[in-house]
Amino acid sequence: MNSSEFDEFDKKCMQRALSLAWQGRYSTSPNPRVGCVISRDNQIIAEGYHYIKGGPHAEINALNQVSGLDLSKATVYVTLEPCSHFGSTPPCALALIDKKVKTVIAAMLDPNPLVSGKGFVLLKQAGIKTKYGLLEEQARKINKGFFSRIERGIPYSILKMGVSIDGKTALKNGKSQWITSENSRRDVQEARAQACAILTGIGTVIKDNPRLNVRSIDTPRQPVRIILDSQLNIPLNSNVVIDSNSPTWIITLNQKSSKLDILSQYSHIKVIQTKEKNNRIDLSYLMHVLAQLEIGELYLECGATLAGTFIQENLVDEIHLYQAPIILGDKAKDAFIFDELTDLNQAKRWHIASSEYLGEDIKLILRQK
Ligand SMILES: NC(=O)c1ccc[n+]([C@@H]2O[C@H](COP(=O)([O-])OP(=O)(O)OC[C@H]3O[C@@H](n4cnc5c(N)ncnc54)[C@H](OP(=O)(O)O)[C@@H]3O)[C@@H](O)[C@H]2O)c1
Repeated sequence: MNSSEFDEFDKKCMQRALSLAWQGRYSTSPNPRVGCVISRDNQIIAEGYHYIKGGPHAEINALNQVSGLDLSKATVYVTLEPCSHFGSTPPCALALIDKKVKTVIAAMLDPNPLVSGKGFVLLKQAGIKTKYGLLEEQARKINKGFFSRIERGIPYSILKMGVSIDGKTALKNGKSQWITSENSRRDVQEARAQACAILTGIGTVIKDNPRLNVRSIDTPRQPVRIILDSQLNIPLNSNVVIDSNSPTWIITLNQKSSKLDILSQYSHIKVIQTKEKNNRIDLSYLMHVLAQLEIGELYLECGATLAGTFIQENLVDEIHLYQAPIILGDKAKDAFIFDELTDLNQAKRWHIASSEYLGEDIKLILRQK
């Protein structure tokens, strides 16, 4: 739809709907973040956003604020096409029809080819005016994980790496706490809270015993912790096993270990048998499995082995590089273990999407070119 069809007030309302959607950034997974604004006589009269799966959708929360009011001259702005199917809640399109609103403007249509456009068809059949395409790019950005799993069938993957000036992640003896600043670590907590899942390798679990949870942000939902452990070497006393406040999925090729019985007794742990590639977990295949399990935004916090493989298999959409003003020298550990490259053309070039200071560190966000 042509953006000239929308006026400044439309843009202001959709911008507000997008900021409302963002308020659900820690909690809506696996559902998308959606915001809604209702206006009448060029004034915003109601607002709402989707908070948590199973809870009311954004449109319903906004409609509930104006339940007794005549909405026959109202325009509803919503960041995603209203749903048309019965899921854990009834269709929002029917609720809007029931309230006899005049116009519905969506930032974009639903990305799911099975339902895309159907919400609008219902509204049009009921005589409601519909338009879409207002601030669509921003609407896509706030739900990149959701759209990736629906449209590409794989999660949107963000690789986090904390490094020194010389690109090292730890001393030779493994000591790495802390290379980056407290500000960077707080930023990582924010990214964890937004993600559907945090993925690491068994190397990191054995060496660091991380908790891989959200601690400094108030959130109703902890991301899933995903551990890649081909041989099921996971120590039974590791934090990801004994802490039951977050779900843990252990991805393995081992079907025989006696640990399987023990792990099956923990209700927060799921062991997933998967496909092998070179005696390790087939990452491309795993990405499809994770999307089917409704993982949209995937945050990779792994060591050099797994980070290198993810990059070389071209499975990383975004890198978050936290670089600290410290030099660790040539004996220290590298950030990416790669197969040897023999030509610079084999090295992928990344586009720097943003840079910022976090305390004394620099955070770069790099995206695929
Ligand atoms: N600086 C940072 O931001 C950061 C972040 C996280 C970790 N780290 C550091 O990284 C160090 C650990 O690094 P690491 O390289 O040993 O561990 P890792 O990359 O976390 O885990 C590697 C292990 O994952 C398993 N794996 C399963 N499928 C794989 C596949 N397709 N490709 C590659 N690996 C696969 C392999 O073990 P199996 O073959 O047994 O399955 C492999 O040894 C720790 O000291 C930690 O401090 C740093």
